[in-house]
Amino acid sequence: MPEWKGCLASVDVNVALLGYGTVGSSVSRMLAESGSEIERATGHRLRVVRALVQNLDKERAFPAADGVLTTDFAAVRDDPTIDVVAEVMGGVSPAGDYVRELLRAGKPVVSANKQLVAREGAELFATASAAGVQLRFEASVCAAIPVVKVLRESLVATNVHRILGIVNGTTNFILSEMERGAEYAEALAAAQELGYAEADPTDDVEGVDAAAKMSILATVAFGSRVTPDQVDTRGITEVTPSHIAAAAELGMVVRLVGIATLSGEEVDVRVQPAFVERSHPLAAVDGPFNAVMLQGDAIREITLEGPGAGGIETASAVVADLVSVVGTAGTGFLQNDACWRELRRMDAATWRSPFYVHLDVADEPGVLAHAASRLAAHDVSVARLVQRLEEGRASLNLVLHDVAFGDVRAALAEIAAFPEVLDRPFIAPVIA
Ligand SMILES: NC(=O)c1ccc[n+]([C@@H]2O[C@H](COP(=O)([O-])OP(=O)(O)OC[C@H]3O[C@@H](n4cnc5c(N)ncnc54)[C@H](OP(=O)(O)O)[C@@H]3O)[C@@H](O)[C@H]2O)c1
Repeated sequence: MPEWKGCLASVDVNVALLGYGTVGSSVSRMLAESGSEIERATGHRLRVVRALVQNLDKERAFPAADGVLTTDFAAVRDDPTIDVVAEVMGGVSPAGDYVRELLRAGKPVVSANKQLVAREGAELFATASAAGVQLRFEASVCAAIPVVKVLRESLVATNVHRILGIVNGTTNFILSEMERGAEYAEALAAAQELGYAEADPTDDVEGVDAAAKMSILATVAFGSRVTPDQVDTRGITEVTPSHIAAAAELGMVVRLVGIATLSGEEVDVRVQPAFVERSHPLAAVDGPFNAVMLQGDAIREITLEGPGAGGIETASAVVADLVSVVGTAGTGFLQNDACWRELRRMDAATWRSPFYVHLDVADEPGVLAHAASRLAAHDVSVARLVQRLEEGRASLNLVLHDVAFGDVRAALAEIAAFPEVLDRPFIAPVIA
């Protein structure tokens, strides 16, 4: 019996999980261990009654009750006693088909799957809408940080026009370690040892994971669909200790930052290494943490920071979505796709920012003047310069004033062709 008094009788809610791995078993643990608190707050007792897995014999971090695990998807879809389903299995296929089938069968779904929501959101929300059931996806972006809820509910009447996000903990950990003196390979190995990076870290270090999350955030914030293939994406593999050292000298840190911009009727979303001024809130985000800064006219700036991965951290968002589904069932609340308009993609050449540029050049007289003349020819002006000498080579570290990306790109294409330029120029936006 519930301990609380004076409220309506508790309502049993049967939950099914697609997946019982790191996140699924944590959801199960949280619902079991915090069941009374959830019941006190919501009047509902959520119980995991079924969980879809591949291997029934695998050892589980939090064992499921007898008869809960199944390898038969139909046992979830066709069970009329299941009220709501959490998709925590990952992958686009078969997860996407399963979610669509569940929605068509009238079951609300919450998903932690960024790739699925980012790539197939349009079809999934159309299916949910046609079936009149909810599809929520808080855990798909930044795990424990409730940024989707803040954007969709708290800021529904606010014109958010820019999002800055450190949305990948693995790369933030690697860059933080490099700042402390580690080489890239060393920092990656440490991330893998601590469980922050997968054996195959490609999606993290190449920015693929961050691009999916930024596309979801931009879609929700701007009300217009952005898919991961529309996100200009660069990872951290090109960041060297020399860039990190130059950043320190300039009073900055290097972070993998997602930037989503709404300008008039145009949207630009990008993920790339950025040089962040030490005084900026994102510079303080250290190790595997995530942070999202939302900027808008009425709110000015709101920054949310917290753990962006982990079983129990992600489960916190999944359980919050389950509670929201149950609490708002039948009200029509936030059932529809967040997209209500179709905005154009901004021509990347017109996207403006201050930039950092790193040039490796032969240590010869006149090189700097030569480069400066090409920059000036494209109306690119230099705010700061740090020059470092390294064994017959010089590295020129320039901070440029706010400029259109197309202009600086054109200048750098000309500079890269100089015989005294020894390596491909490196460019990163500056966040001040
Ligand atoms: N882990 C995190 O920190 C984190 C953070 C944010 C979001 N997420 C997202 O949460 C989701 C789950 O991640 P996870 O770390 O919990 O993954 P995981 O530990 O690999 O667990 C996946 C679970 O799904 C089951 N599964 C996978 N494919 C299946 C299939 N075709 N049919 C039936 N069952 C299948 C697996 O079954 P078996 O156990 O039998 O193999 C396993 O129980 C992913 O979308 C991930 O991106 C994870």
